[in-house]
Amino acid sequence: MNKDRREFIKNSCTLCAGVLGLSALLPTLQSCVAINTLQLEPVNNSFQLPTTSFVENSKVVVIKHQSLAFSIAVVKINPTIYRSFELKCTHQDNGLGVSNSGFFCSMHGSNFDLNGKVLTPPASRNLKEYKTVLTNDQVIVSIA
Ligand code: FES
Repeated sequence: MNKDRREFIKNSCTLCAGVLGLSALLPTLQSCVAINTLQLEPVNNSFQLPTTSFVENSKVVVIKHQSLAFSIAVVKINPTIYRSFELKCTHQDNGLGVSNSGFFCSMHGSNFDLNGKVLTPPASRNLKEYKTVLTNDQVIVSIA
C-alpha cells in the first residue's frame, strides 16, 4: 500500500469516527444545556423568579437559600406550566444532581424525571413537590 493511500484511509476513518461520535453525543449534549442557579430571598414563604430566569433551551432553574436544607428545582413544563421539586433523594436523603432531562442521585443511582417521578430504584417515592403558580411572568414557589 502506498503512502498516499494509507494517509487517505487514515483521514477517512478519523472523519467517520468523529461524525459517529458526535451523533452519539447529541442526546448527551442536549442535556448539557446550562442550568441557571439563583440565590433568592423568600418573601412570605415564597420564592419568586421571572420566567426569563430560564436560559434558552433550559427547562430547569435551581433555587438556593441558606434556610433550605436542599435546593429547589423549578421545571418549565411548558410556557404556562411550571413545577417545583425538592432536590432531596427519597431513598436516603442525599442531594440530587440536575440536568435538563431529570434529576439523579450519586449515592445509589436513583433517577427522577422532570415531573419528579422516580425512574430508577432504590428510591421508590417521587420527589416532594412545592405548589408553583405563574403570575404576570413571575413563577411563585410556595415553601409554606
Ligand atoms: S440516597 Fe439516593 S439512591 Fe440512595
